[in-house]
Amino acid sequence: KSTLYHEPHRPQFHFSPAAKWMNDPNGMVYYKGTYHLFFQYYPKDIVWGPMHWGHATSKDLIHWKQLPIALYPDKLGYIFSGSAVVDVNNTSGFGKKGQVPMVAIFTHHDPVGEKANTDNFQNQSIAYSLDEGKTWTKYAGNPVVKNPGIRDFRDPKVSWYAAKHKWVMTLATNDRITFYSSPNLKDWKKESEFGEKQGSHGGVWECPDLFPLKLNGKEYWVLIVSIGSGAPNGGSGTQYFIGQFNGNTFTAIDDETRWIDHGPDDYAGITWSNTGARKIFLGWMANWQYANQVPTATWRSANTIPRDLALKQINGDIYLASTPVKELSGIAAKAIDVPAAALKGGKDIASAIKLPALYSLKFKMDSAEDYFITLSNDAGESLVIGYNKKADRYFINREKSGKVDFNKEFAKWSFVPRLATGKASSVELIVDASSVELFADGGLSNLTSTYFASKPYNHLSILSAKGEIKDVKIMPLKSIW
Ligand code: FRU
Repeated sequence: KSTLYHEPHRPQFHFSPAAKWMNDPNGMVYYKGTYHLFFQYYPKDIVWGPMHWGHATSKDLIHWKQLPIALYPDKLGYIFSGSAVVDVNNTSGFGKKGQVPMVAIFTHHDPVGEKANTDNFQNQSIAYSLDEGKTWTKYAGNPVVKNPGIRDFRDPKVSWYAAKHKWVMTLATNDRITFYSSPNLKDWKKESEFGEKQGSHGGVWECPDLFPLKLNGKEYWVLIVSIGSGAPNGGSGTQYFIGQFNGNTFTAIDDETRWIDHGPDDYAGITWSNTGARKIFLGWMANWQYANQVPTATWRSANTIPRDLALKQINGDIYLASTPVKELSGIAAKAIDVPAAALKGGKDIASAIKLPALYSLKFKMDSAEDYFITLSNDAGESLVIGYNKKADRYFINREKSGKVDFNKEFAKWSFVPRLATGKASSVELIVDASSVELFADGGLSNLTSTYFASKPYNHLSILSAKGEIKDVKIMPLKSIW
């Protein structure tokens, strides 16, 4: 029996490559019933190296099939992060006889130029597919956006701006975002810049995304920006801005820096294109602080669970909430109601019910009091997730979660402020073989964290000294492999 996808720590319902190194999700596009996922991929080792675009597809965002590599490095360089669109009107002219091309827009990173310390070794290029994403041809006129002398100049996210009938490119350019526009994906013109004075600048800006979302009938634009270091819990993280975009410039509604997920392991996330009003987000479930060192043997890293994005209003402020896509229920077995007696005094729930290895745990609390959720195993390792009322924040403590000594930054606590204001709170925790994702208060306060236990966690307890934990449900999830 093949042990592929059943190795120690192997995620069972999160996408990870069959073998070797993966980082950012790229080129996510939905077309003819298929979700495409490309990703930063190095097929020769389990550490970062010359980047390719790996490829996988899914019909439901949960079951993935890995396909041959879509884009290989070439004379212009490695294939760094970027996006893909369906060119419905064939504005690019790549379609022949009524064909609709898919077009990928990515960064060509020239390692020779980088070594020579030039300041223009990252340029934007395109490739197209006329067979629904199976094979890709690079455009002969690459690069399409030449670097004007900006060291970090990458990660183009392109979308169609219907009102002005043009494509808009959102590009990370050192410490800010630069917007470009184009009628045909080949000829690009600079429109404006955003962010030199806004947001967090603990690291260079990377992997932006820009899209509209409605709140009570009113349209807002969300600008997502990842930073490789300096995030709230250390290392890599993803901030976002809410504002207006008129096809030329982005204006934020305020100066607040917001974060999509405060956990240590949600980075470089962007949304699928061509999904209409629905915005589905996926991040790389790792952190540059230690991604190259995590203790997996044949592959490295996975993606987060895909998440639906929605705007929510809290005390006059607007935030982006993210929650697991409803398609996750496609791998769920019937939910188990955990009786109150099975929780009492922080008892091991596994002594009252058959605790599945993979699950989603949900519960409610009507008083927002302290609680501790502890996952543990017979090797004495544990992961603790909880809420602290005094500090009004949720936390994850993975100090004793298993292997932690591969990097000194790994064994740190993570915190996320509670944004919701009412007393009632709700929690959803998604547990896979080497990750937990906490979605609190309907996805307003999130923590995504990996862990590397030496044995599966077969015990679970939820302890609350004061408040009443209610409606505890455990939904068993099945492996996709
Ligand atoms: C983000 C990132 C991108 C870049 C890619 C290279 O994690 O640094 O900015 O395009 O990874 O693999």
